[in-house]
Amino acid sequence: MDKFLTTDQVADRLHLHQNTVIRYIREGKLAAAKVGNAYRIKESSLANFVGEVEPPTTTARIVAVANQKGGVAKTTTTVNLAAALGALGKKVLLIDLDPQGGCAVCLGLDTSSLQRTVYDVLVHRAVDLGKVVMKTTFGFDLAPSNIDLAGAEVELKQTLAQESVLKRRLQPALDAYDYILIDTPPSLGILTVNALTAAHHVLIPVACEYMALRGLKMLLDTIENVQTVTNPGLTILGVLATKYDARTLNSPEVYEYLSQFCQRQNIRLFNQVIKQSVRFMEAPNTGKPLIQLHPELDGAQAYQQVAQEMLYA
Ligand SMILES: Nc1ncnc2c1ncn2[C@@H]1O[C@H](COP(=O)(O)OP(=O)(O)OP(=O)(O)O)[C@@H](O)[C@H]1O
Ligand SMILES: [Mg+2]
Repeated sequence: MDKFLTTDQVADRLHLHQNTVIRYIREGKLAAAKVGNAYRIKESSLANFVGEVEPPTTTARIVAVANQKGGVAKTTTTVNLAAALGALGKKVLLIDLDPQGGCAVCLGLDTSSLQRTVYDVLVHRAVDLGKVVMKTTFGFDLAPSNIDLAGAEVELKQTLAQESVLKRRLQPALDAYDYILIDTPPSLGILTVNALTAAHHVLIPVACEYMALRGLKMLLDTIENVQTVTNPGLTILGVLATKYDARTLNSPEVYEYLSQFCQRQNIRLFNQVIKQSVRFMEAPNTGKPLIQLHPELDGAQAYQQVAQEMLYA
C-alpha cells in the first residue's frame, strides 16, 4: 500500500526547503491530501512528481544570472551554481558574458593569456562555441571572457538581429549540456540583452545592502521588454538574496522590503538566503568555487539547495 509522507519528509528526500514543497503543492505540481492543517503526500505522487517535473536532459535549460547593479554576487552565484549542478551529475556549461572575466578569475585562470574567448564566438562567425569551451576540474565547462568582450558591444551594433547573436551561437551546444548558465555584466546593455534573449530563465541575485532594490524595477522592465520583443518564453526563476548579514540592522530590513516587493510583483524569492561570509571573498584567491572549498559552510549549502531546486524549476 502507498505510504503517506509529510511535507517535511518530502523536503528531506528531495533536498528542498519545506516551504518549496508546500509551494509545489499549492501550484498543483505535487498531488497531496489535506489532513487538518497539514498536507500528506502519497509516495506514488512523489514518484510521479520527480518523474514529471525533472526537466528532460536532452536539451539544455539556459539560465541567465542578471542584475545591472554591480557587486551583488552574480559571478559568485553563477560559478557556485555551476559547480553545484555539476556535483548533482548534470552536464553544465558556464558562459561568461562579462568583459571583467570574473568567472575565469574565480577559477584561478589568467584572463590575459586566453587565446579565444566568448568575444570571438559573438563577433567571428568562423569561431564555434566549441573552440572556446574549456574543461575545468570543478565539474563544469567554461566559455571564458576577458576585456576583449568590451569591443563586442560596439561590433554587435553592426550585426543583424544583434540581440539574438548569443542565442544563435548557443544552438550547437544545446544537446551537449543539461544546463547552460550565463554570467552577465553590471549593465543592461546589449550583452545582458543577449543573455536574456538566449535564456529560458533569469535568476536575479540581490545583495541585502543599502539601496539594494534600486534599479530592480528597471531590470524587471528590461525583462518585460525582452519578453515582448525577442524572447516570449523567458521566465523569472527567482530572486536570490545574497550577502545577508544578520548582525546588521540593514540586512533584515532590506530582506523584509525585498520580500514584500517580490510578493507585490508576484516573483518568487528563494527560501535560501546567501549569508555574508569572508570565505566568499577569499575563494577567488584559491581558484576554487566556495562549494568545493568549504562545502560545510552555510553559504555553500544554500547554493547547493538552490541548485537542487533548479532541477524542479
Ligand atoms: N555571500 C558573500 N559574502 C561575502 N562576500 C561575497 C559574498 N558573495 C560575493 N561576495 C564578494 O563580493 C564581491 C562581488 O561579488 P561578485 O563578483 O560575485 O559580484 P557581481 O555581481 O558578479 O559583480 P559585478 O557586477 O562586478 O560583476 C566579490 O569580492 C565576492 O567575493
Ligand atoms: Mg560579476
